[in-house]
Amino acid sequence: MGCTLFITFEGIEGCGKTTQVRRLADNIKGMEITVVLTLEPGGTRVGQDIRRMLLDSRNSNLTPLAELLLYEADRAQHVEEVIKPALEEGKWVLCDRFFDSTMVYQGYARGQDMTLIGDLNEKCCSGILPDLTFVVDCPVQIGIKRALKRNEVHMEEGQDRFEREKRDFHEAVRKGYLKMAMEAPKRIVVVDGTLNKDELEKVIFNYVRPFLAGGVEA
Ligand code: TMP
Repeated sequence: MGCTLFITFEGIEGCGKTTQVRRLADNIKGMEITVVLTLEPGGTRVGQDIRRMLLDSRNSNLTPLAELLLYEADRAQHVEEVIKPALEEGKWVLCDRFFDSTMVYQGYARGQDMTLIGDLNEKCCSGILPDLTFVVDCPVQIGIKRALKRNEVHMEEGQDRFEREKRDFHEAVRKGYLKMAMEAPKRIVVVDGTLNKDELEKVIFNYVRPFLAGGVEA
């Protein structure tokens, strides 16, 4: 078995995680490591359909349980189709959001049963856990401002109901991430999303550098 690593990126909307996960992938490529860059929801063909359903403002009447199950369905398919095979082949997997998002968005912020979420996560991940998770933290005001700017076109098309949600919701999401990071300090690293992109890229790469020598035994 080769050496492998599973890294996830988390944070509120507009925190900059998507830029950073891409930059990290670019930094690692070319070091004789094969990187799979993926995301949730939407890391498989089925998942892309699920993502569209979840982010479509016409579906704002989705029940909380239906929403939770859609995220978990996306994850179950993603783990089996993409993440597990890649790790078994000794590749590194970088994922833009994973199960912490469900704990924080559906659990802490929407108040759904954390035990149920934990059980579903366990079932849908079939034993796969991130080795390292970056929470890209930034104040809600900054995140929302960036996200609205980025999604101007989507908003016109009536997409992405999440950016419209109340500020309190995003505050709860942010708080949830910081709480999770305190509870799992070995796995979760909080980095400063207000740094400029180049600085943050360096900070993140410095955390990953020690793994480049060996990774984790698959
Ligand atoms: P994105 O902003 O990373 O594209 O994610 C899409 C939205 O999906 C974002 O608002 C967070 C939300 N989400 C959840 O609510 N629960 C989850 O489990 C995941 C993976 C995402």
